[in-house]
Amino acid sequence: MASQRIAVVGAGYVGLTAAACFARLGHDVVCVDVDKAKVDALSRADVSLHEPGLAPIVSAELGTGRLRFVHGLPDDLSEVDFVFVAVPTPTGADGAADLNAVDTVLDQVRDRLSANTVVVVKSTIPVGTVSRLTALLNRPDIAVVSNPEFLREGHAVEDFLHPQRVVVGSENQTAARRVASLYAGTRAPTLITGSASAELVKYASNCFLAMKLSYVNSLAELCEQLGADIADVTEGMRLDQRIGSTFLTPGPGWGGSCLPKDTKALLATALSAEVDFSLLDATIATNSRQAHRVVAKVRDAAGGSLTGVRVGLLGLTFKAGTDDVRDSPALAVAELLAAEGAELTGYDPCVPGGDAVGSVRVVASPYTAIDGASVVVVLTEWPEFAELDWKRVGDGGRAVVVDTRDLLPVKKVREAGIRLVAVGKPLVGQNNHRE
Ligand code: UGA
Repeated sequence: MASQRIAVVGAGYVGLTAAACFARLGHDVVCVDVDKAKVDALSRADVSLHEPGLAPIVSAELGTGRLRFVHGLPDDLSEVDFVFVAVPTPTGADGAADLNAVDTVLDQVRDRLSANTVVVVKSTIPVGTVSRLTALLNRPDIAVVSNPEFLREGHAVEDFLHPQRVVVGSENQTAARRVASLYAGTRAPTLITGSASAELVKYASNCFLAMKLSYVNSLAELCEQLGADIADVTEGMRLDQRIGSTFLTPGPGWGGSCLPKDTKALLATALSAEVDFSLLDATIATNSRQAHRVVAKVRDAAGGSLTGVRVGLLGLTFKAGTDDVRDSPALAVAELLAAEGAELTGYDPCVPGGDAVGSVRVVASPYTAIDGASVVVVLTEWPEFAELDWKRVGDGGRAVVVDTRDLLPVKKVREAGIRLVAVGKPLVGQNNHRE
């Protein structure tokens, strides 16, 4: 497809990735944001997001002239072929997605677009939003299309340029095909649907992943009671292609800016559609219990009380590979520990030392976080934690490490004289699991 002219509204992690990668695919892109400081920084190729590969693309495409950043929506968008809406849809008071930002953009672009421009919603929107926005826009000559994003934080560029699928939904199939062809350079499988189906694919996917994780976290709890090993159980499951091999690692609960928000939103949608989706309800409730489970392990490790106990936390972000601490299970655990009187020192490779994050005093080295701590808790699966000098940690007389991600090399840690409390291993003789 020939180069198209695209405006992306919103320079967050979805909008910025889309803008930079569409430019990389050869399109002419203007990326709009209301935050002047952010626009100025991006115009200098100063990318603050921790997203591998993104800064070099922004820099290169600013150089080719295919990518520009502007503050505020330009008065005239008549030269644009597509407007991508990539503004936040946070959780509202009732659990449903708050669509104020999306509505505002639609309102603002209405009189600035020429006929046949396509408005593409990339923000995650509840089913029925495209229909509602089409009515709100009230421009029969302009199609509104849903094009959900499936980018993982930390892999956004890779996921955009090599997507597993491109989903486009609209009642206007010509417009949907035009949007799909913007991705021709990625050679991804493309699915064109009605707008409601495309909107639901996004929620259905994230909620399914969340359900898989709540399932595996419950299985891990069961393993502890039954003398089974979650690593062996999930290995046995992974070999079944119908189950698949990923999203089967237990942890301190799932978090981040997407799964918690989208599970709540789909549940709110189901409620208002009067559909019993108790499976999703249980998925969320199971996740809320995980931080309490971790705290119980830490409390046990500390001898029954956390009052005045120094706890060293390894990992604060919601997963490895990102600097994002939004809805991080690590911080949920930290706040519960602090509520029981624990004193917290934490280290994360992507969170600068020196500041406090909630109740956690953040330090610049894992050893500083560990020094003087009675219990160490691994909360995020940063590979570097497995490489720590566990002998040095053991020499300090700290007897217990709680590994909520089953990340650490069991043999090495055990040989260092450390008691390792893992997840999903037989509770009796925590040190007896296989290496
Ligand atoms: C998620 C989806 O994976 C993306 O496909 C989607 O595009 C994105 O939300 C979005 O809606 O924008 P992300 O929020 O980056 O991506 O996080 P995930 O990689 O899905 O991880 C979510 C949580 O599950 C993290 O807390 C992670 O540590 C946890 N997790 C993941 C596990 O505990 N175990 C696993 O095996 C995998």
